[in-house]
Amino acid sequence: MKSVMEIVEKFIKYHELTKDEYCELLENSTNQSVSDRLSEEAVKIRKKHYGNKVYTRGLIEFTNYCKNNCYYCGIRRGNHHATRYRLTKDEILDCCQNGYLLGFRTFVLQGGEDPWFTDDRLVEIIRSVRENYPDCAITLSAGEKPYNSYKKFREAGADRYLLRHETADEAHYRSLHPEEMSLTTRKQCLYDLKSLGYQVGAGFMVGSPGQTLDNLAEDLIFLKDLNPQMVGIGPFIPHHDTKFAEEKAGSVELTLFLLSVIRILLPKVLLPATTALGTLDPRGREKGLLAGANVVMPNLSPVKNRKQYDLYDNKICTGEEAAECRGCLMGRVESVGYHLVDERGDAIDWPIE
Ligand code: SAM
Ligand code: FES
Repeated sequence: MKSVMEIVEKFIKYHELTKDEYCELLENSTNQSVSDRLSEEAVKIRKKHYGNKVYTRGLIEFTNYCKNNCYYCGIRRGNHHATRYRLTKDEILDCCQNGYLLGFRTFVLQGGEDPWFTDDRLVEIIRSVRENYPDCAITLSAGEKPYNSYKKFREAGADRYLLRHETADEAHYRSLHPEEMSLTTRKQCLYDLKSLGYQVGAGFMVGSPGQTLDNLAEDLIFLKDLNPQMVGIGPFIPHHDTKFAEEKAGSVELTLFLLSVIRILLPKVLLPATTALGTLDPRGREKGLLAGANVVMPNLSPVKNRKQYDLYDNKICTGEEAAECRGCLMGRVESVGYHLVDERGDAIDWPIE
């Protein structure tokens, strides 16, 4: 049997392991020599591909209506305490204008699965952003849609799509979502998005209720197979109005460990240091960058709606104006030796020939 250090070196050399080896690696996430070796290698890889650059994405949370009922999420339809809002097309364009002047060249339109935003309405919004900001990337994060809807959005000018798979394990998926949702559909959406030429982002929460190391190993195997351009991971954080209110939050250390692992697994991946990480640890995003992340996603949503996009408790950046958020992050990024850039920050080697 291989020692854990032999497994680490094998991973660094081949960027892939067997499921048993991933489990062994993850069992050693609190072993300092293991995490040091992985983060050292992760930083080396990120510097080779991206130097000191950190890309920034302006997050526009355009609706908190959602037809789904994911058990962990504060804006799920069953939460009748949530105060709902939708941004108008003009409000979305105002966010983009504000962001553009601050140096953002990627806008992420994220929201619950809100049927009011029909394909036609979303297409109109995407077209307007595309026309007004031809040099910017448009990222959507609006949940599961039929292939033809994704196709229309792509044709209207969307470049990227974020859809976390949440967990690659069937039984674990069932325990986090109601019967009407399915892991098969979620995975199919990701493959559809890839086939339509989107830069695709998958990902999962670290420490979601019931998650085992075996589940995380499955996540890594799925990510290697999907080979997405982006991976979003952040700790699970309980929300007081969900059935997981009393569950423990995910671990910052394990999230950092996994950021390093994912950097090695998919060397060129665009990997954000997430708001959830910054919520659990005041220096969480800085630590994320030091573990191998190369993207930050400051909030561009109107301040009046920020608190309403309430996915989990104590979410940070809900009171600050966009400029303050960007300035704050710029300082944080510089404090760990990196540099925030005003670029689209497309995936390396994109588009694939
Ligand atoms: N509706 C879109 C979707 O499903 O992809 C985008 C919005 S959804 C709220 C964005 C992400 O928030 C989810 O993929 C999930 O991983 C994360 N999230 C939801 N509740 C969370 C919680 N309690 N703690 C941490 N992350 C959470
Ligand atoms: Fe939003 Fe610091 S990033 S206030």
